[in-house]
Amino acid sequence: MKKHLIAPSMLAADFTQLAVEIDMVNRSEADWFHLDVMDGRFVPNITFGMFVIEAMAKLATKPLDVHLMIVEPEKYIEAFRKAGADVITVHYEACPHLHRTIHQIKETGAKAGVALNPHTPVAVLEDLIEDIDLVCIMTVNPGFGGQKFIYQSLAKTRKLREMIVTANASTLIEIDGGVGLQNAESLLQAGADVLVAGSAVFQAKDPVATIAQLKAFKSAFDY
Ligand code: DX5
Ligand code: ZN
Repeated sequence: MKKHLIAPSMLAADFTQLAVEIDMVNRSEADWFHLDVMDGRFVPNITFGMFVIEAMAKLATKPLDVHLMIVEPEKYIEAFRKAGADVITVHYEACPHLHRTIHQIKETGAKAGVALNPHTPVAVLEDLIEDIDLVCIMTVNPGFGGQKFIYQSLAKTRKLREMIVTANASTLIEIDGGVGLQNAESLLQAGADVLVAGSAVFQAKDPVATIAQLKAFKSAFDY
């Protein structure tokens, strides 16, 4: 059975208890770890890099979905792969030679993702969609967790789903930013395959139960 995936964003975890938080995700119904790398240049915030990811990889028992919010990501793709990344997502807005960068990621053996800022239309990926393993629709402006979901993203998700179906591609649609129990079902009905959730999971009284609830929603594409 094909079911949508849940990827808790570790940005919202308690970093003084990182091993405990990773263990919680390991024990839960979550599918991936979503790891947000920020450089203080592409986005107005700085988080962590390959050194911390390498440490997390030692404890994580599920794939690492690494979201690079950095300029010139092509310089660091091999390093993130070595650190343990299974999916490497770069921003469309940070890649003048996106086709080359996508193939550079695939050559390392990782899955290649492209993230779109809220103002970037999905149409820019039309000539490349078959080459992309995952498109990450940013539903907040990247840089911080805990922001409000931009509602226009729902229509954007539908458009992208249409593009993928038309191209007969197997690209996954990931939704990142402001996702929680309140909008998960509409996003899944619009065509989402992967839901990233940071604060909705880690600020919940029972994160494991919240992950299970997110996983239990019906998706238009579950069968
Ligand atoms: C934002 C990050 C997101 C963020 C999501 O720049 O890419 O992954 O951690 O956090 P929430 O779910 O709290 O919006
Ligand atoms: Zn992210």
